[in-house]
Amino acid sequence: MNETLISEMREAFKDKFKSLEGTRTYFAPGRVNLIGEHIDYSGGYVFPCALTIGTYAVVRPRKDDKFLFYSNNIKRDGVIGFTLKDLRPKMRKGWTIYPEGVIWALGLKGFKPSFGLEVVIGGDIPSGAGLSSSASLEVLTGYFLRDVYGWDSEKLTNIDLALVGKKAENDYCGVNSGIMDQFASAMGKTDNAIYLNTSTLEYDYAPITMAGRKIVVTNSNKPHSLVSSKYNERRAESDQARDILKAVEKKMVNLCDIDMEEFYRIADVIKDPLVFKRAHHAISENDRVKQSRLALKSGNIHKFADMINEAGESLRYDYEATCYETDVLVDAARIQPGVLCSRQTGGGWGGCTVSIVDDDYVDSFEKNVGAIYAKRTDYKASFYVVSVGSGPCRID
Ligand code: GLA
Repeated sequence: MNETLISEMREAFKDKFKSLEGTRTYFAPGRVNLIGEHIDYSGGYVFPCALTIGTYAVVRPRKDDKFLFYSNNIKRDGVIGFTLKDLRPKMRKGWTIYPEGVIWALGLKGFKPSFGLEVVIGGDIPSGAGLSSSASLEVLTGYFLRDVYGWDSEKLTNIDLALVGKKAENDYCGVNSGIMDQFASAMGKTDNAIYLNTSTLEYDYAPITMAGRKIVVTNSNKPHSLVSSKYNERRAESDQARDILKAVEKKMVNLCDIDMEEFYRIADVIKDPLVFKRAHHAISENDRVKQSRLALKSGNIHKFADMINEAGESLRYDYEATCYETDVLVDAARIQPGVLCSRQTGGGWGGCTVSIVDDDYVDSFEKNVGAIYAKRTDYKASFYVVSVGSGPCRID
């Protein structure tokens, strides 16, 4: 837990809302995805893990129906207030669309707040880095609402909270994302990655402590503008590929319902080369995730790393969801000693890369990759040696 951040947030709470009496503090993690990129909206397998960094909330009930939110990370926005009547899908602006969306989506399921709240939010996930700061805020909101209003966690499970977060993101915030980020945040388990079938939500945990190696996340610090429109565009292309293939392969519901062998048998029905590439990424990525799970299970870390590298190529050339800066990071990483694999992770077009690096080479990795990156781009990279953490919790 980030004690410094928590005490800063408590100070901010006192400052904005007079006292700390009756407050509760909560946390929900961010995530990094190891493999299985851009297929969680095509029914594919994904393999993310929750992080020990994430988003925190200090929360207190009010006597009236007002919700007052303040972000310790975006202080200039001040306290933002709303009531249930103000909630309008796709119409509102600013960072509170995420908690608003969750309150709205829970209302649709019959969970309606009976009083308002005062909330201070803060986090240690770099925002816009592709480590799911928004999904962690959504899961966090669902989690503290359930606790504060005393809703039954058997009727509203953590998986429900993930689904509510996705609903908020899709229908309130307007990004057609899949379930991976919210699921990873809501269901995280220390030192384990989550192997998730996004079409059925069946999942299991896979121990991810790799003796003698570290998972290193490198932030390009490239702000990703236009990302949600590109994201929605890729999703539309994937849906188009699915519809074309489905016309000849009736068993398909999702794009990832066929494997590469089946794909090659029917692929010539796709006439548009761009749509072909998108389908090729999704279907081959799904096969790679399955292979990577088997490799990890049998302790074959090199095969696991090969799958991650190949996933990176596919995301770069077939799905075109990387950018110059993250390509520079990946290319620089792969030529360093002690590096098993490296690729762009998360939504894409900026944000972070994920690499597996031998313990002894982590320092030289950071130094050398950082130097190459500074020379070839206008940004400075930041590095995080990742610890895999657990799901949301109440702290006090
Ligand atoms: C974003 C979305 C996820 C997923 C990834 C790409 O993080 O929120 O649902 O699609 O991009 O794998």
